[in-house]
Amino acid sequence: MDTPANENEKIWMKVKSSSGIEELVPRLVDVQSAKNSKNRLKYRCCLLFLLLLLIGLILLAILLPIYLLKHKTSITINNSTTSSSSITTATPQITCIYPNVYNNLTKTCVNILIDSNNCGQINNKCSLNMSCSAGICVDVPGILLNNSKTIFSSSVNGSADDQMFNVTLPWPITIYNRTTNIVIVTTDGVLCLDACSTIYTETNLPSNVFPGVTIFPYWDDLYIYSNTSQGIYYQSDGNNPNRLLTFEFYMSHYQLPREYYHFQVLFFENSSNIVQVKYFQVSDRGSTCTIGVQASSTGPFISYSYDQENSIDPNTSIIFNTNLGTFNKTSFES
Ligand SMILES: *[C@@H]1O[C@H](CO)[C@@H](O)[C@H](O)[C@H]1NC(C)=O
Ligand SMILES: *[C@@H]1O[C@H](CO)[C@@H](O)[C@H](O)[C@H]1NC(C)=O
Ligand SMILES: *[C@@H]1O[C@H](CO)[C@@H](O)[C@H](O)[C@H]1NC(C)=O
Ligand SMILES: *[C@@H]1O[C@H](CO)[C@@H](O)[C@H](O)[C@H]1NC(C)=O
Ligand SMILES: *[C@@H]1O[C@H](CO)[C@@H](O)[C@H](O)[C@H]1NC(C)=O
Ligand SMILES: *[C@@H]1O[C@H](CO)[C@@H](O)[C@H](O)[C@H]1NC(C)=O
Ligand SMILES: *[C@@H]1O[C@H](CO)[C@@H](O)[C@H](O)[C@H]1NC(C)=O
Ligand SMILES: *[C@@H]1O[C@H](CO)[C@@H](O)[C@H](O)[C@H]1NC(C)=O
Ligand SMILES: *[C@@H]1O[C@H](CO)[C@@H](O)[C@H](O)[C@H]1NC(C)=O
Ligand SMILES: *[C@@H]1O[C@H](CO)[C@@H](O)[C@H](O)[C@H]1NC(C)=O
Ligand SMILES: *[C@@H]1O[C@H](CO)[C@@H](O)[C@H](O)[C@H]1NC(C)=O
Ligand SMILES: *[C@@H]1O[C@H](CO)[C@@H](O)[C@H](O)[C@H]1NC(C)=O
Repeated sequence: MDTPANENEKIWMKVKSSSGIEELVPRLVDVQSAKNSKNRLKYRCCLLFLLLLLIGLILLAILLPIYLLKHKTSITINNSTTSSSSITTATPQITCIYPNVYNNLTKTCVNILIDSNNCGQINNKCSLNMSCSAGICVDVPGILLNNSKTIFSSSVNGSADDQMFNVTLPWPITIYNRTTNIVIVTTDGVLCLDACSTIYTETNLPSNVFPGVTIFPYWDDLYIYSNTSQGIYYQSDGNNPNRLLTFEFYMSHYQLPREYYHFQVLFFENSSNIVQVKYFQVSDRGSTCTIGVQASSTGPFISYSYDQENSIDPNTSIIFNTNLGTFNKTSFES
């Protein structure tokens, strides 16, 4: 590595001559001495910088905790003020709309009028053969879905006779190759993917009253009695593409409040054209109802039963395959 013999070197500088013309003249610079003075300068700078840094750090160490403390205190005051000024049902994370109340153990909103684990109030569990009806544990069937959305609930909406409700689904279902995310459910035990009807006099299938794809889990003159857990609910479980959509119908019969008709209709995201019906309570065992599915008022259709005595038992499942036009019936426990 060759070092320059003389570290001093020329640099060119611009000067103005007496005649007023700019010209470049060489200037000798003492690099060595410049370096020395630069080093001294560097040293002073460094000291000053370190000193400033030290002061800065000290200030930060004092001011940051004060700032954070102040900040935190102001939030706490704000939140505690708002929560103390509102009613005890207020929750920090989730807002539940009555009759849903926040359960801080399950971290969910629970419907205290129908939830057998939170009946009337959080964590009030009904005994095994009791259910929660309008917030009271009673000896009648209860809602099985544990995280359901309410379409109609007698405990808040009162009684219902021959009514129907539109429901927008969280994901589309397909039956008889008809795909939709809007269905209509009726209080007469019918679920329509197209136009619907509240006619309560059941007939054989196909029924010309229902123009489109229709499911008849229990077409009969059913009735929702007020101040019970009766109603129509639904819930989506699982994750895309294996979600399960469950509708739960729980009713009595027109003028027969001690009869119970309690069943679920299930749709599977991974199995189009399949619909399952699960029966829990069927007081008249099918003697005045129609069970089946149809694609239109002229069919195709699958008829399971029509006003047939002892055609259906509790704890029974029927799976309709609308592609094959067949059904399977099985028993299940719980
Ligand atoms: C205080 O809380 C209320 C309601 O929760 C909110 O609207 C407001 O923005 C909050 N104020 C501050 C300073 O966070
Ligand atoms: C306090 O309230 C603010 C807004 O007012 C909110 O962003 C924050 O999540 C609340 N904190 C707690 C612990 O609830
Ligand atoms: C949860 O709620 C109950 C009352 O419902 C209350 O007694 C308990 O202190 C709450 N627990 C927490 C961690 O907030
Ligand atoms: C629950 O059912 C059992 C037997 O099925 C019965 O012995 C018991 O009395 C019932 N309890 C209530 C509160 O109805
Ligand atoms: C609902 O019940 C299912 C089992 O049927 C369970 O896996 C799930 O955790 C329950 N959800 C809630 C919110 O209790
Ligand atoms: C049932 O009552 C709730 C609460 O008042 C209301 O939001 C909902 O729209 C009602 N549903 C029907 C179908 O009337
Ligand atoms: C329900 O859906 C039908 C179409 O299927 C529509 O004609 C009717 O207006 C809807 N009703 C409500 C209340 O949205
Ligand atoms: C339902 O309960 C409410 C409030 O407890 C009561 O005023 C009403 O009379 C009850 N209705 C029926 C049909 O029992
Ligand atoms: C299809 O979905 C159902 C309901 O979520 C699930 O029980 C079943 O395991 C799924 N089938 C397959 C093959 O993933
Ligand atoms: C009924 O069960 C048989 C035999 O397990 C099966 O091959 C058929 O696909 C099932 N049908 C329906 C509609 O599930
Ligand atoms: C549904 O569509 C598939 C494919 O186009 C066809 O094979 C099947 O027969 C159709 N099913 C019905 C019930 O129309
Ligand atoms: C249906 O299953 C439930 C739960 O296993 C059971 O308590 C009930 O007795 C069964 N009902 C009938 C009629 O077998």
